[in-house]
Amino acid sequence: MNIILLGPPGAGKGTQARRLVEQRGMIQLSTGDMLREARTSGTEMGKKVAEIMDRGELVTDEIVIGLIEEKLRGESASGFIFDGFPRTLGQADALGALLDKLGQSLDAVIEMQVDDEALVRRITGRFTCGNCGEVYHDETKPTKVEGVCDVCGSTELKRRADDNEESLRTRLLEYYKKTSPLLGYYYAKGKLDRVDGLAEIEDVAAAIKDALDKV
Ligand code: AP5
Repeated sequence: MNIILLGPPGAGKGTQARRLVEQRGMIQLSTGDMLREARTSGTEMGKKVAEIMDRGELVTDEIVIGLIEEKLRGESASGFIFDGFPRTLGQADALGALLDKLGQSLDAVIEMQVDDEALVRRITGRFTCGNCGEVYHDETKPTKVEGVCDVCGSTELKRRADDNEESLRTRLLEYYKKTSPLLGYYYAKGKLDRVDGLAEIEDVAAAIKDALDKV
């Protein structure tokens, strides 16, 4: 099963994708994570990507489609979770064409609905484990022992450079301008389902499970 988790920054896409990986053995393809890896490469492209991400703007379709294509061709799995991709109509068309070429299909698109006020709280309180990628929050999901990852025991906890109110404003604008048209695009294809992203993490996971069980 191949699915897209769609929602604004901080909607909980990464949090829920990680659970699906554990529970269903699917592969999470996060273009955000891939780009964060690219920005540490020290190349000219990496530097450009870093500047764009820190401003909260979208990286070009060409770059992200190339990253996704490389991963899809290189991995075989019981399903892919597209997290943060596609983000433009051009990316959505490219994903459709790519899946067709590989003899695969898109089974469901889950919109995670949240309001902007909650997003600011979520983004400004988020931190992650630099070793295993587990996602935490100062208030809603702190580590059990301060400064130590619950999952792998690493003390390499970090905050993202674009997790500040100024970048978030641009990221939200980009979402409403360029990504939200995808809701109509996938609705028209009969693929769209919605969950309440404001619910507790466990309840959001249960709603996603219900939606996927219907597919
Ligand atoms: P990306 O890394 O994809 O970031 P994003 O879409 O802004 O999404 P986030 O990772 O910020 O949020 P999330 O929905 O995963 O939330 P999370 O689970 O962490 O992209 C970053 C940048 O890369 C973009 O701005 C762009 O520049 C570039 N980029 C990436 N993909 C691109 C593409 N396809 N095209 C062009 N450019 C691209 O949760 C957030 C916090 O809330 C956490 O602390 C978590 O613990 C907490 N939380 C989660 N769920 C709940 C809940 N139910 N209740 C309470 N707290 C919760």
